[in-house]
Amino acid sequence: MELYIDTANVDEIREIAQWGVLSGVTTNPTLVAREGRDFLEVIKEICEIVDGPVSAEVLSEDMEGMVKEGREKKNWHENVIIKLPCTAEGIGACAVLEGEGIPCNVTLVFSAGQGFLAASAGATFVSPFVGRLDDAGSNGMQVVEDLAEMFEIHGFRTRIIAASIRTPNHLTEAALAGAHIATVPYSVIKKSILHPLTDKGLESFKKDWEAAQN
Ligand code: E4P
Repeated sequence: MELYIDTANVDEIREIAQWGVLSGVTTNPTLVAREGRDFLEVIKEICEIVDGPVSAEVLSEDMEGMVKEGREKKNWHENVIIKLPCTAEGIGACAVLEGEGIPCNVTLVFSAGQGFLAASAGATFVSPFVGRLDDAGSNGMQVVEDLAEMFEIHGFRTRIIAASIRTPNHLTEAALAGAHIATVPYSVIKKSILHPLTDKGLESFKKDWEAAQN
């Protein structure tokens, strides 16, 4: 499973990219708006930091507008992936853009049926939202597991991005459920590296080493 970071904050991306663990970046309108910067400028800067797929979401709600935006955003950088909502208009736009060789990430997926339709439209990526489903009392990871099994049985090439990841446990569960990618917020990536026994072990190694030097 590959790791993407789910943020539009370039400082966060730069820091985690230095660990050598990042394969891509996802953004959404909320994350970009939070930065208070120009959309194009942020995406171009992100593409300079991470050499991998960078999802940029369309803002149009109709198919024609989404296709137009998708074509424009693809010109921003070769690594840009067009993020489309899992609506009838979004699925239609996905089929058109993928038909032109423009890779799409169908987002806001909350059921295996929605994921199936995205894959049928030729989506390169599909993003089931685990945390938001958990918040609503469902089992978000089950959708990831179902999609992984469905894509395997039927030979769909669509890659599953486990999204709306809230905890380090979500990260490992996504890998075990068969997600190809997990897109994870900065705070969860930072938490995932921590374990109190690592700190304790390091401290005792240091103490033992220093004691032996005297
Ligand atoms: C994914 O591409 C989305 O940007 C993201 O994972 C949404 O996460 P949230 O539910 O924490 O907003």
